[in-house]
Amino acid sequence: MEYYFKLFTLVLVLILFGCNSDSDPDPDTPDPGEYTLSEDCSQDTVYFVNDIRPILISYCATSGCHDPVTSEGDMIVVNYNSLMNSNKIVRGNPMESQLYQRITSSSPDLQMPPPGEVPLNTRQIDLIETWIAQGARNNECIGECETENLNYNDHIAVIIKDYCGGCHGGNDPEGGLFLENYFQVRAVGMDGRLLGTIRAQQGHIPMPFYGSMTDCEVDQIAAWVFNDMPE
Ligand code: HEC
Repeated sequence: MEYYFKLFTLVLVLILFGCNSDSDPDPDTPDPGEYTLSEDCSQDTVYFVNDIRPILISYCATSGCHDPVTSEGDMIVVNYNSLMNSNKIVRGNPMESQLYQRITSSSPDLQMPPPGEVPLNTRQIDLIETWIAQGARNNECIGECETENLNYNDHIAVIIKDYCGGCHGGNDPEGGLFLENYFQVRAVGMDGRLLGTIRAQQGHIPMPFYGSMTDCEVDQIAAWVFNDMPE
């Protein structure tokens, strides 16, 4: 009996050991979800923090949806880990990813954002597709921050579109405030609310509501406002 018990223990130890060394992470393969910050921004790379999170904050974390309060479908999109833990993204495979299927669906039951909300445009959908195809990394880049000669159409519109467009557009914008064209954005630039909200100044509600812009983007918008907001 004792012999069998020893044998059993030995086998058990071997199994545990074997399994353990199998599941040890390979030090040469970095964890795909590990946060990485690069000094330079590559033209060919789509970055989660710079490119994807702004779109998710504005188009999916709208009130009553995938925001930290409601967390519809157990998905809170403002946080990388929560987003990945929802299992709606298959690294490297946009077509298999529910998130991508939903944002490209034309079925009213599946389509995201739901009918009636501001839809994503093709540039935003392409960014999400490429980011998933590149492994859905938790990456960010710094790059050079250009603050000279910025105008609305070439520089500012795209930042506002991604960070603010999902909540401040469509049929029923948050706070009754539209930020969809030059004149609407210039109006909040002039009355101080644009810089007040994105810099989270006292007396203003911090925007984009969940999360914040990068320092560079805040500097760019400030430079544009102080330069009389060229179109
Ligand atoms: C996730 C949704 C959401 C996003 C994204 C968002 N907002 Fe808002 N915004 C709101 C809500 C909700 C209110 C109304 C808050 C209230 O009145 O209680 C509001 C109100 C405002 C106001 C008026 C309030 C004030 O303090 O003057 C301004 C200005 C504003 N937003 C600017 C922006 C800008 C600029 C962006 C993009 C950087 C942005 N918002 C992104 C939800 C959002």
